[in-house]
Amino acid sequence: MIVYFNDKYIPHDEVKISPFDRAFLFSDGVYEALRTYNGKLFRLDDHLERLKYSLQQLEIPFNDFNLIETICTKLADINKIKTDYSVYLQISRGVSFQRTHNYENNLTPNVFAFVKSIKDNSKEINTGVKVILEKDLRWLRCDIKSTSLLPAVMANQNAIRNNAYEAILFREDFITEGSHTTFFAVKKNKIFTAPLSNYILNGITRKVVLELCKENKIDFSEEHINVNELKSFDEFFITGTTTEVTPVIQIDDWIVGDGKPGIITRNIQELFFNAAKQVL
Ligand code: PDD
Repeated sequence: MIVYFNDKYIPHDEVKISPFDRAFLFSDGVYEALRTYNGKLFRLDDHLERLKYSLQQLEIPFNDFNLIETICTKLADINKIKTDYSVYLQISRGVSFQRTHNYENNLTPNVFAFVKSIKDNSKEINTGVKVILEKDLRWLRCDIKSTSLLPAVMANQNAIRNNAYEAILFREDFITEGSHTTFFAVKKNKIFTAPLSNYILNGITRKVVLELCKENKIDFSEEHINVNELKSFDEFFITGTTTEVTPVIQIDDWIVGDGKPGIITRNIQELFFNAAKQVL
């Protein structure tokens, strides 16, 4: 696989990263995950804006945002990718031999990216998935898309161990989001999802879904969903760049409704895929 590393397009095994890179020592870095529809990057500007936000919050001095589209398309080209693809882009603070918690302001960020073909998720999209509930053990700045992901890794591993697709996280009584997705619930034709805050990532797919709700006069509310009141909702779905809009048909041992994706979820899926294919 040819990857991008600091201005070079090289085989992945030729990348040399210092063990003193602060992402290796401290998880001191940020990332973005994007994808294409019909070969075009979906919501590139929104992803760049979120990347800029994450970098600013951590004071990582990277400004070459114009480079990113070229990196993605060139990687797809060089790797002869003929399908739609996803992109992983990571920017670490850079190398410092001090290994002190505080950072110098003059470090040079290391930029790494790779692309891969989108894997077929039509089964999950069509029939829905099981999720499990897990305590949210993450830090209090989940609005920063940092590479420090261990609690999310552990939660998702637990989901897989329990034959589920995703772990839905709760803090005290309130659902925050999934380990790598945004969580939505539906009650009496109204859609609910957690409000933006430091407890969740500002999901791009979330943003698209809420825009579509507005445009199509579907009632929605950004408010906390109480983990103890899940049974009062009719439908659930999760969203994300690669998860798209995936119905949730089972939460732990509870089969939701008749175990089939709900009508509102189907409606949102249809609106989303129409919008994505036109590449908003
Ligand atoms: N995950 N919440 C969390 C914690 C996430 O990690 C993600 C994305 C989302 C959905 O965001 P978006 O709609 O912008 O993809 C919500 C990416 C895909 C990942 O970690 O690979």
